[in-house]
Order: sequence, then C-alpha cells, then structure tokens
Amino acid sequence: MVDTEDAGTLARLLRSRRSIRDFSTREVPAELIDAVLDDARWAPSWSNTQPYRIALASGDLKEGLKAQLLARYDAATKLQRGGMASKLAAFVTRSKALPDGDFDTRFEYPKELTPRRRATGFGLYSVLGIAREDSAARNRQMRRNWEFFGAPVVLFVFVRQELGAYSVLDAGIFLQSLMLAAHARGLGTCAEGALGTWAGPVREAFAVPPAYKLLCGVALGWPSDHVVNAYNPGRAEVAEMLIPVKRG
Ligand SMILES: Cc1cc2nc3c(=O)[nH]c(=O)nc-3n(C[C@H](O)[C@H](O)[C@H](O)COP(=O)(O)O)c2cc1C
Repeated sequence: MVDTEDAGTLARLLRSRRSIRDFSTREVPAELIDAVLDDARWAPSWSNTQPYRIALASGDLKEGLKAQLLARYDAATKLQRGGMASKLAAFVTRSKALPDGDFDTRFEYPKELTPRRRATGFGLYSVLGIAREDSAARNRQMRRNWEFFGAPVVLFVFVRQELGAYSVLDAGIFLQSLMLAAHARGLGTCAEGALGTWAGPVREAFAVPPAYKLLCGVALGWPSDHVVNAYNPGRAEVAEMLIPVKRG
C-alpha cells in the first residue's frame, strides 16, 4: 500500500539525485547491486515486454573494458587532430578509433535545445575550474567518461530496436528506476551516453543476444566528496514545459 509519506520521500529522492562524476574506490557489495536491480525491474514497459538487457562489469572485467575503451578514445582524439589524410586512412584501415556503436551518439542539436546543452557543459567546466578555452583540460574531463568516473561498477544497457522509440522509452524508464533505486541506498550513478560510442569491446566481453543494441552505460558506486558531484544544472520550470492551447 502507498503511504502518504511516500510522496515526500519520492519528491526528495527525485530532487536530490545528481549525476555522479567522481566515485570513491570503495567496492559495492554484490547484494546491494542485486537489490538495486531487483527494484529497477519493476519499471513499466510497453505490453510488459521489458525489452532491455544489462551487462554488468566490476573488478578485472571492468578494468579490461576501461583500458580498451580508453585506447579507442585516445586513438579517436589523435585522429581528430590529424586532419583529413589520417581520417581517410583510419576509414580505409577500419581503425578501432572509428565509432562502432549501435546508435549514433554525435548529432546536430536542434537550435532550441542548444542553449541548455551549452549551459550544462559550461556549468560543469566552471565547477571544475576549467576555462572555456582550455581544450586539454576539457579533453581530460571528457576522457573520464571512459574511466567510468572511477566507479567500481559499470552497467551497459542494451535494448531491442524492433519496437522503435517505444523500447528505447522503456529502457529510459528502467534507467531512471535504477538510478533512483541506487540513490535511495546512498549509491551514486551517472547515465553515460558516451559509453554507446564503442560497442566492440563490450560485445567481446559479454554474450549479448544479437538483436540487442547498446544504448548507453551507467557508472555505479559510492559518490566521493569531490565538488563535481554537487553540480546541479537545474531544470526548466513546469510552465516552460507545458504546450499552450492554440488561441482563436
Ligand atoms: C541518457 C543520458 C545520457 C547521459 N550521458 C552522459 C554522459 O555521457 N556523460 C556525462 O557526464 N553525463 C551524461 N548524462 C548526465 C546528464 O548530463 C545529466 O543527467 C543532466 O545534466 C542533469 O544533471 P543531473 O543528472 O545531475 O540532474 C546523461 C544522462 C542521460 C539521462
């Protein structure tokens, strides 16, 4: 049964969950991870199809994935700086630096959403004391995505594509359920679209059913007391979200 106090608890959890981008090295007990997943599995989905699968890595497996993904990130960064000839060579030799994710993670942002994206990025760099023009420091921070921000656990979220937008929507609901279930236990998470960039190393490590596509990753662990974890990019007001009724 739902208790009247539940609304307050949920409101607090929804408002206080933040993306965690620095973790302590403290391990997460397996029972706690099980409990989080056991709660998250109650997420609703289209016709209860639950069209997602999770690949979970910690310890040596996680370290191995981190090394492989970082090697790809570093190669891609080098390629980016190398100009047209090296990009062409990478294409011809099918370099591992080239993204092999199942979904494109690089897209043109609609004009209307660009200011929010920019404000979020600059806000993060500002908290970290990184100047806008300091591309080396920005690159180092970006690289942290593939270190899973130091988290002891990383999850990769896979989804079936046949239901199109609806299965991705289901995976999103599952993702928020998982993040809140973790947060309610004092654990931190960061959803990472960045981890959808290279699927090869993840597919090599896990027996992913062929129909499942890599959507994103999630870093999971205990938040450290690093200032980055206090960063709150805020939200638009409800009024901004509501679509007005047409006049006349
Ligand atoms: C699907 C998804 C993908 C995301 N990918 C990344 C990512 O690759 N790297 C990152 O640092 N944050 C990522 N985030 C975190 C968002 O930037 C963050 O949720 C947003 O700025 C709001 O901040 P908050 O989570 O602290 O409330 C992602 C969030 C979602 C939901």
